[in-house]
Amino acid sequence: MGKDWLKKRKRDFYYRKAKLEGLRSRAAYKLKQLDKKFKIFKGVKKVLDLCCAPGGWLQYSLSRIGEDGLIIGVDLVEIAPLPNVRFIRGDITREETLEKIVKVANGKIDLVLSDCSPNVSGIWELDHARQIYLAETSLKIARKVLRKGGKFVVKVFQGDLFNNYLDKVRELFKIVKVTKPEASRKESAEMYIIAFNFSG
Ligand SMILES: C[S@@+](CC[C@H](N)C(=O)[O-])C[C@H]1O[C@@H](n2cnc3c(N)ncnc32)[C@H](O)[C@@H]1O
Repeated sequence: MGKDWLKKRKRDFYYRKAKLEGLRSRAAYKLKQLDKKFKIFKGVKKVLDLCCAPGGWLQYSLSRIGEDGLIIGVDLVEIAPLPNVRFIRGDITREETLEKIVKVANGKIDLVLSDCSPNVSGIWELDHARQIYLAETSLKIARKVLRKGGKFVVKVFQGDLFNNYLDKVRELFKIVKVTKPEASRKESAEMYIIAFNFSG
């Protein structure tokens, strides 16, 4: 992390807001804005959050679902515990992680979230391909665990593999939107795909 990057982050509005409000990441505001616009959490009781660390999306999901729901978070890195969240430390691209998710879920899931980013190398084609691979893996997992009619929210880096990925999402969901929330940095290539009504 360079000094310039750290300085920029300190000036960042959502970074400071997250600190003040006790949220673990500024990413929480992206999910909040997506929810406000698309009513993502309506009727949702069971959530799977792929690539969840440090846990901003988990905190927001908790605030929306309450204590009688179930939230499962998965990441390569450990997170500080949160009440009512079942955390699985693992690599989403490994079959054993999917097996653990299925076991913990103990039934179908209403909403799958995916905010995955690879370790960025700075070589754009490589980072884009790696990120798409994580988004593809998330789609594969969603396909396995979502209930019919379920929802899927996924971050995808823009680039030449984007449209092909979007087509794959469209094959599985009846309604699909592409958006960039206000809290997502303008200079970032990330977009969010919101998919409703999983065809099962
Ligand atoms: C942008 S962060 C997610 C932020 C999170 N949504 C939040 O609100 O705090 C991206 C995460 O992807 C995770 N990640 C990257 N590759 C992964 C993989 N193969 N399996 C699991 N997690 C992965 C990273 O460890 C990192 O925590």
